[in-house]
Amino acid sequence: MSIKAAPQAEYLKDYQAPNYRIDHVDLCFELAPLNTTVSATMKVVRTVNSDCELVLDGIDLTLISLHVDGQVHEHYALTDEHLIIRQLPEKFTLQIVNQIAPQTNTSLEGLYLSGGAYCTQCEAQGFRKITYYLDRPDVLASFDVTIIAEQTLPHLLSNGNQIDVGKLDGGRHFVKWQDPFKKPSYLFALVAGDFDVLTDSYMTQSGREVELALFVDKGNLAKTPHAMSSLKKAMQWDEQRFNLEYDLDIYMIVAVDFFNMGAMENKGLNIFNSKCVLANQETATDKDYHTIESIVGHEYFHNWTGNRVTCRDWFQLSLKEGLTVFRDQEFSSDLGSRALNRIDAVKVMRSHQFSEDAGPMAHPIRPEKVIEMNNFYTVTVYDKGAEVIRMMHTLLGEEKFQQGMALYFQRHDGQAVTCDDFVAAMSDASGIDLTQFKRWYSQAGTPKLEVRQDYDQDAQTFTLAVEQFAPENQPDNDLLHIPFAIELLDKSGASIALRSQQQAVDSVLNITAKTHRFVFENITQQPVAVLLEDFSAPCIVVQQSSVTELLHIMRYARSDFSRWDAQQRLFIAAVKQSMTEPTVQEARLDEQIINALDALITAPEGDLALIAELLKLPSFDSLAAEYVVIPVDDIITITARFEQQIAQQLKPALLTCYNSLVDDGSTRADAVAVRALKQVCLHYLAKVDCAVVTDILINAAKSENMTNVLAALSAVVKANHPQSEPLLSAFDANWRHDVLVMDKWFALQAMRDSETSITDIEALYQHPSFDFGNPNRVRALVGSFSHFNTAQFHRLDGQGYRLLGDLLVKLNAINPQNASRMITPFMAWRRYDKVRSKAMQAQLQRLAKLDGLSDDLFEKVEKALHA
Ligand code: TRP
Ligand code: ZN
Repeated sequence: MSIKAAPQAEYLKDYQAPNYRIDHVDLCFELAPLNTTVSATMKVVRTVNSDCELVLDGIDLTLISLHVDGQVHEHYALTDEHLIIRQLPEKFTLQIVNQIAPQTNTSLEGLYLSGGAYCTQCEAQGFRKITYYLDRPDVLASFDVTIIAEQTLPHLLSNGNQIDVGKLDGGRHFVKWQDPFKKPSYLFALVAGDFDVLTDSYMTQSGREVELALFVDKGNLAKTPHAMSSLKKAMQWDEQRFNLEYDLDIYMIVAVDFFNMGAMENKGLNIFNSKCVLANQETATDKDYHTIESIVGHEYFHNWTGNRVTCRDWFQLSLKEGLTVFRDQEFSSDLGSRALNRIDAVKVMRSHQFSEDAGPMAHPIRPEKVIEMNNFYTVTVYDKGAEVIRMMHTLLGEEKFQQGMALYFQRHDGQAVTCDDFVAAMSDASGIDLTQFKRWYSQAGTPKLEVRQDYDQDAQTFTLAVEQFAPENQPDNDLLHIPFAIELLDKSGASIALRSQQQAVDSVLNITAKTHRFVFENITQQPVAVLLEDFSAPCIVVQQSSVTELLHIMRYARSDFSRWDAQQRLFIAAVKQSMTEPTVQEARLDEQIINALDALITAPEGDLALIAELLKLPSFDSLAAEYVVIPVDDIITITARFEQQIAQQLKPALLTCYNSLVDDGSTRADAVAVRALKQVCLHYLAKVDCAVVTDILINAAKSENMTNVLAALSAVVKANHPQSEPLLSAFDANWRHDVLVMDKWFALQAMRDSETSITDIEALYQHPSFDFGNPNRVRALVGSFSHFNTAQFHRLDGQGYRLLGDLLVKLNAINPQNASRMITPFMAWRRYDKVRSKAMQAQLQRLAKLDGLSDDLFEKVEKALHA
C-alpha cells in the first residue's frame, strides 16, 4: 500500500520558465465511458541550452504507448503525477497514447460525463487528467482535435473551427476541429452529446459575420433566448467601450447540469453551468436573469482578458479574473443601474471578502503560496481583484485607462504575462506612477481609515484628518495608495465645491502617507461629509456620525450608492447600540429611522429598486463583520425585533405601497424594479398575521412569474408563517420535473428555522431530485442552510456543524472542489463564542484525521486549525 505524500506547496518566488515548448498538438479522442483513448501528437522544442528531462503532468491516466519521432521510446519513468522522459533531441515529435474513464470521474475536472454528455473542465489543472502534457498556462500551442464517438452523440465540439466531419464504421462518426489561436491547455474544451441548439449570428463592427450557437439539453430551447441576447449585447458592448472585437467565425456555449462553478471561458467553446444559461419567466427570477447576463458577459470578455492575453502562472490569476470581473461589472452598470450594481458588488466585498481577508485563508490578490490552485478562485482574487482594477480606473480616468488597455494588448497579445505587466502598461500609457499602488497586489487584509472632521466657523475651513492603519492580521503591511473619494453636503443637501489653497480640488483624495490633513476653504456652514464615496477603495472607514448626519446623506448624497451606504450604517449603528443596552429583547429602531423608511414607501418615486435596497436590513454576515467575537444570538434577536417593528409600524404604508405597484410582468428594468420593491414589502408584511396579507401571499405564490412566486415563498419561510407548509408542498408537486427550479425549493427548505431543521434536511437527501454528485443541488440545500439558516446552523448543541461535517466527509470522496467551497463557514470558527467555536473546531479536527483527505480540504483544514 502506498501512503500519499503530504501535499506540497508551490511559491510564486520559485517561478521558472519551462524548459520545453509545445508549439502544436494534435489530439484524437475515441470516446467511451470507461475507456476513452486519447492520442496526442506534439511538436516539442527544448528552450534551454543543455540536455534535460521533459517532465509532463499526468494524473489518473493509463499510459498505452510513447513514441519520439516515430520510434518507440523507452527512456521514461512514471510517478503518481508525472511522466518523466529522458534522452530527447532538441526538437522532436512526441506521440503519447493513454486511456481515461470519464464515467467514474465524479470530480467534474478533466473529461467527465454530465447527464449523457461528455464534457471537459481544464482550468486550472484539469488537462493533466486527460493526457500527459506541460499543463501550465505559459505553454502556448495550436490545437487540432479529432473526436470519434457513437452517432447517438450527434454534436461533437471543440475549440475553433470545424474543418472535417464524416461517418465511420460501427455506427460511429468523427468531427475535426482546428483552433488557429495558440492557447494554454486550461482553455482546451471538448463536448459530445445530443442537444437542442439555438443558432443566431452577430455582425462585428468591422463587418465580419460570427455564427453563434447555444447547446442545451433536449427540451430546453424555450429557455435560451435570454442567454443569446445577453451574448450579443456583450459582443457589442466590448466593441463600444473597449474597442475589442471577436476573433473567430463561431462562438459556442454549451449548458451542462454538472459543473463546479458558474462557467468557463474555453476558446470559442464556453461551457456553462445550466443554471447560468436557462431562464424563462415561469422558472427564473429577475435576479437569475441578471446573473445570466453578467456571467455570459464575463466569459465573453475573457476572450481578450484571459485568452488572447493569458497568465504566466496561476499566481497571476487576478490578471484575468480581477480585470474580467471589473469588465463584467461595467457591462452590467452600463446596461442597467450603476448604483444597484455597485451595491451588489460592495455587499460581496463586505460580507464575504472582508471575512476571507480577516481569516486563516487571507491572501493577497496575487497569492504567494498555493497548495491546491482550485482553492484560490476566491472572492479576494476575483472581487477584491476587480476593486483594485477599479481603483486604477478611478486614478487614471476612463480615457487614460482605455489607453492603458490598448497598450496592454499592443504589447502582450498572444503572450502569457504577469500582473506587473498589466500595471506597467497602465502607468506607461497614463504617465501616472503606480509604484506604491502596486502594493495592493502583494498585501493581504483590509486596511482601515480613521477619519476626524473639524469645522472652523471663523476661518470658514473644514478639515479632514485621515490616518491609515494596516489590517490587524497583517501588522507589517506597508502604506497603501488609496483613492479616497468624498463629497461635502450643505444643509440644503447641495454639493459644496471643493477648494484648497485657492484652487478647485478633485473629489478623489490621494491617501499615500500614514496621516493626511485636507483643509477645504470657503466653507460657509458646517458640512456633512460623504466619505469613501461609491466605495472608492476596499477599506473600512472608522468615523463618528450622528443619526441626523446619516439621514442627511441618505437623502441627499449625489451617489445613490452612498445613500444606501448611509442607510446601512444607520442600521448597523442601531444594532450595535441595542447590544449595549440591558436587554436586547427590547431593541427598537429610532423613530427617525422608521419615519425615513415610511417616507421612502409613501408614494415611492425614482429608482424603485434602490428604494427596495434602502428598506433592507444588513445581512447577518455584514453585521457579524463588525465584531471580533460574533454575538450570534444577539444579532438574530435584534434584527428580528427591528424587522417586526418595521412590519408593525409601517403595515398600512407597506400594504398601500404593495397594492399601488403595478407589475406588468415584463423583463424591462422598470418592471424588475417594481417586483423588487413589492418583494421587500411582502418580506415585512408576512411578519404580521392578518387575513389580507395571507391572501396576498397565496395569490403571489400562484403567479406565473417566478420572481413573485419566490418572493411569497421566501417571505413565508423567513416569517415562519403558517402558509409555509402548504405553499412549499404545492411548489414541490408543481416543479419536480425541473431540477433548477427544485434548487430554489431545496434552498427554501434549508432556510426554515425549525427545531426539526437538521432531520428535515437529512430527509431531503432522499428526495428524488437530490444528488450529492451535483454541486448545484448540494449548494442549494446545504449551502443555503450553512449560510442563511443562522439560528439552526449555529445551534448550541452542534448538530448544525455535525451535519456540515458529515457532508464534507462524503463530498471529499466525490468532489473535492465542491467540498472545499462548502467548508467556508468553518473557516471563521475562531470568531465564535467558546461553545460554538469548540464544536466547529471538533469538526475540523475530524476532517484533519480523515483517510484520503483531498489536497483541497487539507489546505483549508490545516490553515483553519493552525494559521
Ligand atoms: N475561469 C472561470 C471563470 O471565472 C472559472 C472556472 C470555471 C473555474 N470552472 C472552474 C475555476 C473550475 C476552477 C475550477 O470564468
Ligand atoms: Zn473568469
